[in-house]
Amino acid sequence: MSLEEKIGQLNQLNGLFFQDDVESVLTGPGQQLGLTEEDIRLTGSILGTAGAKPLMEIQKSYMETQPHHIPMLFMMDVIHGMRTIFPLPLGLGATFDPELAEKCAAVAAKEAAVAGLHATFSPMSDLVRDARWGRVMESTGEDPYLNSLFTAAQVRGFQGESRAKGQPYEPYKICACVKHFAGYGGAEAGREYNTVELCEHTFREFYLKAYQAGIDAGVDMVMTSFNTINGIPATTNQPLMRDILRGEMGFRGVLISDYSAILETIAHGYSEDGAHAAENGLRAGVDIDMMTGLYSNYLAKLIQDGTLEESLLDECVMRVLELKNNLGLFEHPYKDADPEKESEFLLCPEHRALARETAAKSFVLLKNDGVLPLDLNQKIAFIGPYTDRKQIISSWALTGEATDSCTIREAASEVFNPERTTYLPGSPVLDPSYILVGFREDDNTSSDITPQQQKEMLLEAVEAAKAADLVIMPLGEHYLQSGEATSRAMIDIPDVQMELFREVTKVNDNVVVVLFNGRPLDLREVSQKARAILDVWMPGTEGGHAIIDVLTGKVNPSGKLTMSFPYCVGQVPVYYNCNSTGRPELPNQVLRFKSRYLDIPNAPLYPFGYGLSYTTFALSPVRLEAEGAEAHSLTADGKLQAKVTLQNTGTTAGTEVVQLYLQDVSASVVRPVKELKGFRKVSLEPGESCEVCFDIDESMLRFLRADGTVGSEPGVFRVWVANDSASGEAAEFTLV
Ligand code: GLC
Repeated sequence: MSLEEKIGQLNQLNGLFFQDDVESVLTGPGQQLGLTEEDIRLTGSILGTAGAKPLMEIQKSYMETQPHHIPMLFMMDVIHGMRTIFPLPLGLGATFDPELAEKCAAVAAKEAAVAGLHATFSPMSDLVRDARWGRVMESTGEDPYLNSLFTAAQVRGFQGESRAKGQPYEPYKICACVKHFAGYGGAEAGREYNTVELCEHTFREFYLKAYQAGIDAGVDMVMTSFNTINGIPATTNQPLMRDILRGEMGFRGVLISDYSAILETIAHGYSEDGAHAAENGLRAGVDIDMMTGLYSNYLAKLIQDGTLEESLLDECVMRVLELKNNLGLFEHPYKDADPEKESEFLLCPEHRALARETAAKSFVLLKNDGVLPLDLNQKIAFIGPYTDRKQIISSWALTGEATDSCTIREAASEVFNPERTTYLPGSPVLDPSYILVGFREDDNTSSDITPQQQKEMLLEAVEAAKAADLVIMPLGEHYLQSGEATSRAMIDIPDVQMELFREVTKVNDNVVVVLFNGRPLDLREVSQKARAILDVWMPGTEGGHAIIDVLTGKVNPSGKLTMSFPYCVGQVPVYYNCNSTGRPELPNQVLRFKSRYLDIPNAPLYPFGYGLSYTTFALSPVRLEAEGAEAHSLTADGKLQAKVTLQNTGTTAGTEVVQLYLQDVSASVVRPVKELKGFRKVSLEPGESCEVCFDIDESMLRFLRADGTVGSEPGVFRVWVANDSASGEAAEFTLV
């Protein structure tokens, strides 16, 4: 391969470069990136185009002119579904069911593969703690252990068993990509792309864990993050990428930059210019330069003038070619692309059914005074902008179509008596002056509702509320208020909807809120006035059916929060696995010189691990045993069992997520007040009970110690077995 050919393998452009006519490309985006026709012709991969037909056409014409007929790689953000859209990841995490997430990823992979794709930029494995950051929707939350399980499960779902064994990809599997390496979720003040300041201990102990789980699961690609780590942009950070990612963490796959991230090292104040940025990228071992053209523009000269060793280029090219080889592209450049199968598989009933099941399991019942499940023999008014809205698939469902979605009204019409049910929007999603720009023209949300029309909508809604026995209010964020570049300083339900909520609750006390959101929101007022709150996130293609399934009791909700809902935005960041501080505020204590606020409680409004059911569950105090006898000490090679009896004390079958938390009471580095170490999803009939048992061994007690080694330390540990991170009584044992 010539130097230019090798460099071309490291260049990634979007598919438009290969779909529009050459002239417009060269004078348009090509010129912007300083690319020649030859540079474009030698490009090794593209992103952002899907569809068997267009991708087969691109591959065919590309292979005809590629000097060594090396096939092109096709990549896309298939984040939570391809055409069948599943709940956004923050909701998927609330299922506490990694195996279910694996199934969803496998369906997404199958749909993506027949649509011609070879790789997805998913799962996002960033730890998140700040609800102001819009990309919390793309994560599975604030716990490293849970994020690790979901990351590994999604990698398995996307890449398949064969790949996990180091064999080539099987059919209908695609390359996954763990992102964003590393620490992107730590952006200061939750402001997108902002500085990340993490001490070494926190970075390694909390933020790196889920990426490591993805690597251990065999992920073939990792994406760099936009932020700096230790003052150096991650994308060009050699210690981070070469010593930690490839050295310590053992990653052997393809490292791809995030979109234009190599170029942005100039704006960071790190690279002097494009050539320096390209040099820094290659030195850090970034194998694919996404959408800057800098590798194409500068690497040849940097190698020819001796600034860069060609061996650096060769190692990157080899990793890209190995990925293509493992995907079988040299033998089958179209892999699974198949227009017929594409129309057969995408949105097929089986996939829709999985989307409906997953959505229902992702919902979290935050409040319920018994008003749910619904009594259908009453007059019910659905009042809210999400009553009949199809845009419930999130801003990261780039390959989904909102028009495929089932709305609440469509689903309710199948079940509710039309004589006794009304459906009204009541308000727009956002105040018409609130402008959001998405990826497509229909994303523009400056709705054309006039102030007069808005007033009429409100009046009509209030009249309907007066006439109803019960009002269900589908409210929430606009889908473009979460996702990339959507940080919010105020984390409220849009004002125009809160006005509707206030007016309705003035005339009807029986209000149930169905909440659509991409982040934890400030729900203080809603939690005081609504009788029930069901959080449905952005539920995906089958959202309407899933919501009605849960509201009517066909499905008993079992979701649990994976990210704390703050009391208000001033409390952010708030997360359950925090440190104690030297002056912890203890329950029922109001002392001035304690770690507390004057004006709000320390506790979040709803904690990690929290979620209600239509039934009730009782948990016995936790018993610690070894070989059947009570025990309170553990040796390095021993095992304890934490046991509880769980009973369904209600009147309906239900599923509880029983959670195991541990605390290392004193150690060479302060340890979190508690950490999730296990969980069980247990389904019980009314009155039924069962024993739930968790094994505890020394390996679960290991952490990054003050001396930089990982291991456990003797001492006292506390154990909770509870149904959320804020409840339960602790038992104690000593590691000897
Ligand atoms: C975006 C995102 C990244 C995504 C990539 C390609 O900027 O940060 O998550 O995969 O670009 O679309």
